[in-house]
Amino acid sequence: MSDTLLAYLNGEYLPRAEARLPITDRGLLFGDSVYEVVPAYGGIPFRVSHHLERLDRSLNAIRMRNPLSHAQWRTVFERLTAQSPGQDQSIYLQVTRGAYPTRSHVIPNEVKSNVLAFISLKRPRDEASVQRGIRAITLDDIRWHRCDIKATALLANVLARAQARDEGADEAILIRDGAAMEGTASNLFIVNDSLLITPPDSDELLSGITRDLVLELARESSIPYAQASIALSDLETADEIWLTSSTREVAAVVELNGRPVGDGRPGALWHHMDALFQACKARLRAGGDCHVE
Ligand code: PDD
Repeated sequence: MSDTLLAYLNGEYLPRAEARLPITDRGLLFGDSVYEVVPAYGGIPFRVSHHLERLDRSLNAIRMRNPLSHAQWRTVFERLTAQSPGQDQSIYLQVTRGAYPTRSHVIPNEVKSNVLAFISLKRPRDEASVQRGIRAITLDDIRWHRCDIKATALLANVLARAQARDEGADEAILIRDGAAMEGTASNLFIVNDSLLITPPDSDELLSGITRDLVLELARESSIPYAQASIALSDLETADEIWLTSSTREVAAVVELNGRPVGDGRPGALWHHMDALFQACKARLRAGGDCHVE
C-alpha cells in the first residue's frame, strides 16, 4: 500500500519505487546523514516544530544547514499526508550530505544535500497487545558518544535490536557505565515509589519528542517526575518501566531480562499516562490542539 504513495525527493513528488539516489551518496557510503520520524494522527502531523527544531540541531551538529525552511518542510508533510487523509501515518525524512564523484572522508566544501521523505501508514492500535506490554533485555551500549544527534548511522542499534529478538524480547535497553540510557529506538522511563524518572538530556541519548510530551503531560497532571540517572540496579527493581517513541508511543515493559517488572502487567501510572496520551491523540484527530506544536 505504502509503495503506491508518492515520496518526496529533492523538490519532486514521485512514486516511491522511482525515487532513487546515486550510489555515491554520502548517506549510503558513510552514514553521513540525519533523519526524523514524525507521527501524523488522523493525517495531522504531530509536534512538527519540535521535530524540525531537532532536525536543525542534528544538522548543525554535523556541520550542515537545513536545505529547506520549516515552512517548506510543512508543505512537504501536508502534501505527503494528504494522500491518505484522516489516517494515522508516520512521516520519515532524511537529509544526506549528498553525492560526489569521489569517495572521500573529507567533507566537500560545497554541499548539495539530498533530501527525501516518505510516509508509511500506521497500523491501528492493537489494544490487546498494548495491554499485554513488551519484553526488554539490557545490553552494553556500544554506540558512539553523540547519541543526541539523530544520525542514520544506526548499526549498533540494529544489532542490539537483533539480539533482543534472538532472546525473545521486543527492545534492548542500553547500559553505559552502569546507567540505563534508552532503548535502541526509544527513550526510557521508570516509576519508583510513584516517582516517574527519565535520564537527563546528554550527548549519550536522543532527546525524544515523545519523552518531552510525556514530561509535559506529567506536569499538567501533577504526576511527580524527575530527570535523573537510572542505575542498572534501579532499572532492575523499578515498579514500572516504559519505553517511548513516535512509533511505540508509551509502551509498558512487563518483563526485563526474563523477570517480571512489578507484577508482570502494565502498572497503574502507565495506565494513567497512556490514557492521557490517547486522549491527546483523540483531541488532535477531532481537530483540536493538544500539544500539536
Ligand atoms: N526513533 N532514542 C532513540 C535512539 C531513537 O531512535 C528514538 C526514535 C527515540 C525516541 O524519540 P521520539 O520520541 O522523538 O520518536 C529515542 C525513531 C522512531 C526511529 O528510529 O524510527
